Amino acid sequence: MTDIVIAPSILSADFGQLDAQIKAVEVAGADWIHVDVMDGVFVPNITIGPLVVRAARKATALPLDVHLMIVHPEQHLAAFAEAGANYLTVHAEACIHLHRTLQQIRDLGVGAGVSFNPATPLHALEPVIDLVDLVLIMSVNPGFGGQQFIPSALPRIRAVRDMIRASGRPIRLEVDGGINPQTARAVIEAGADTLVAGNAVYGTSDYRAAIHAIRTAAQ
Ligand code: DX5
Ligand code: ZN
Repeated sequence: MTDIVIAPSILSADFGQLDAQIKAVEVAGADWIHVDVMDGVFVPNITIGPLVVRAARKATALPLDVHLMIVHPEQHLAAFAEAGANYLTVHAEACIHLHRTLQQIRDLGVGAGVSFNPATPLHALEPVIDLVDLVLIMSVNPGFGGQQFIPSALPRIRAVRDMIRASGRPIRLEVDGGINPQTARAVIEAGADTLVAGNAVYGTSDYRAAIHAIRTAAQ
């Protein structure tokens, strides 16, 4: 089985000490750093832009997994790639020309991801599966950390796992929202291999123990 990737989300970190907070999860065993970009339009919250991605890039050598919860992502891809993103994930709901936008990400030389909100049908994935390196299934409605896992994500993860298998391509299957040791086990069993965890890591006082607990539950 593929190695499990655990990506702490800095959404739940202390932004006043971002550099130290990123280094702390790196030392504690994180595989990737998940960066939540929100515009107050696609989701009801506003977070960060390319400047903060650049700061995160300086803090760590780990892959930066940048989750764009914004409208018109195509207008900002180059800035995020230049800032040091390793993966750029756009929402299918935010892309009128999803195929073109994913191609644009590939042309920038970074990993291309597509994400689906909990209520979005998955049929847009099939025509673009040859363009993606990552599929992100939301297990909460995006906008905030610390929300409860939505169980109807599980059959959707299974469906995407089947599509990835049929494609024969090395696509990561990531799940984001409400991940903790209990839900981690369920999503891994459903076929996920990449887990975002905000509150379950940054909401604790021992990041190493928190990441270890998720990894152990997932294996
Ligand atoms: C939600 C974000 C998530 C968030 C997850 O809109 O996309 O990445 O940080 O936080 P938790 O793990 O606390 O649900
Ligand atoms: Zn996210």
